Amino acid sequence: MRQVKRVGVVGAGVMGRGIAYQSVIKGFEVLLYDARSSAVEDAVEQIARLMERERQKGRVDEQTARSGLENLKTAGDLAEFGECDFVIEAVTEDLAVKHDVFRRLDAVCPVDVVLATNTSAKSITEIAAAASRPERVVGMHFFNPVHRMELVEVVRGLESADWAVAATEELGRRLGKETIRVNERPGFATSRISALVGNEAFYMLMEGVASAEDIDKAIKLGLNYPMGPFELGDLVGWDTRLHVLEYLHETLGEKFRPCPLLVQYVRAGRLGRKVGRGVYEYDEQGRRIDKSRSC
Ligand SMILES: NC(=O)c1ccc[n+]([C@@H]2O[C@H](COP(=O)([O-])OP(=O)(O)OC[C@H]3O[C@@H](n4cnc5c(N)ncnc54)[C@H](O)[C@@H]3O)[C@@H](O)[C@H]2O)c1
Repeated sequence: MRQVKRVGVVGAGVMGRGIAYQSVIKGFEVLLYDARSSAVEDAVEQIARLMERERQKGRVDEQTARSGLENLKTAGDLAEFGECDFVIEAVTEDLAVKHDVFRRLDAVCPVDVVLATNTSAKSITEIAAAASRPERVVGMHFFNPVHRMELVEVVRGLESADWAVAATEELGRRLGKETIRVNERPGFATSRISALVGNEAFYMLMEGVASAEDIDKAIKLGLNYPMGPFELGDLVGWDTRLHVLEYLHETLGEKFRPCPLLVQYVRAGRLGRKVGRGVYEYDEQGRRIDKSRSC
């Protein structure tokens, strides 16, 4: 098995930057790329800010923070990924976009390099079909925020090879995560449930059952979830949630039909924390604005 030193991360959005951060603090070199150069610049800034916060809290020591930032490199083109030992794709949850990325990665990466996808729900087999060697494509599903969440789902597609699955589990462990093995089904073992809960919460909001704040409060205090469904959806991004729901609706049936109010929120650009407003609103520092306190 190839010794992994350099991890390539494609996509520098919410998840790509989280995966890049976790990789550098665990001692890997990272090559980060996004089709939008502004996304890469924002990601580097946010990673540095998170590193500083974690250092101040004593969760990351001085030396790790310094070497972590030194080990974070950015790429201007996917052609530079030929030097990576393992690549994790975290681009928009859209099959055509992922296919394009896998086709290009497949052409530049040596054959023993695993090409992992962080898709939340889509078929690994279908994504892998864009590669000439689909056996090296595996699902590696991280959770948000990556540095805090302990799980990685390792998802085997129809053609994923044992060596590629084992290498993905090994990298997950080296990144400090617990792994579970999942055989490919839409939504794996997690997104299938979280998408359903978030969607149902939107139906409840649409029906006027209670306010978003009270639904979140009910689920946290009454059902002992650590976050309410609206808080979680704002963190995940409602556009990503909607992509997942549409796919689950198409593959698993009617119970996943996206709630019309959720669709409206996405159309209105209320995507969540990443744009400063979703079900709730956030200030520049990402703190929630408490509307009940404003006059
Ligand atoms: N947000 C979550 O909580 C979460 C959790 C687990 C998995 N995921 C999955 O991770 C993936 C990324 O989600 P996200 O929330 O980070 O989305 P995001 O919208 O925050 O980021 C996606 C990034 O991909 C970039 N991109 C689009 N096309 C590209 C291309 N061809 N090449 C390079 N970059 C490209 C975009 O510019 C954007 O910066 C999706 O598959 C999503 O389902 C998301």
